[in-house]
Amino acid sequence: MKKISSITLLTTILLFSGCGQSFNSNSLDRNLAQVNNCADPSYTELCAANQIIQAQCIDCHDRFHDTWTAFDTDQKWIDSGRVIKNDADRSPLIVKLKKYGGNMPKDKDPLSTADINALRTWINNMP
Ligand code: HEC
Repeated sequence: MKKISSITLLTTILLFSGCGQSFNSNSLDRNLAQVNNCADPSYTELCAANQIIQAQCIDCHDRFHDTWTAFDTDQKWIDSGRVIKNDADRSPLIVKLKKYGGNMPKDKDPLSTADINALRTWINNMP
């Protein structure tokens, strides 16, 4: 019995904090994991990409089944399937953007060309 009510509670919490319900006053912190080596020039592009994703995407992409907050290395993005190394044109992170016919960032203005270019450069130059 106890187990069932925990599951019910958990499900209720997940439903109320579910996908697409961004911009509320939920007190959970939604921050990407810090990239640790931003002073090192070989991390510049990852750090730039992280800033854009933090500003434009993380509000929604940190809850329920999403774990973007944990992606602090190129490899974690690649392993997640959102980024295809050196192939921005096929990476879901890019293809889902409004400019490419997708719908991201949902309910917000499209990313600026500068931001899109920064994301593309990061993906296409991955070592
Ligand atoms: C207002 C909330 C919201 C914002 C902001 C947002 N997304 Fe999403 N995103 C969603 C939802 C909801 C889905 C699942 C439904 C869909 O695919 O439309 C999704 C799905 C996705 C997917 C496919 C599923 C996945 O998890 O890989 C990608 C890729 C994606 N978004 C990229 C982005 C990027 C890149 C940004 C920032 C530039 C962004 N999103 C900003 C709500 C959002």
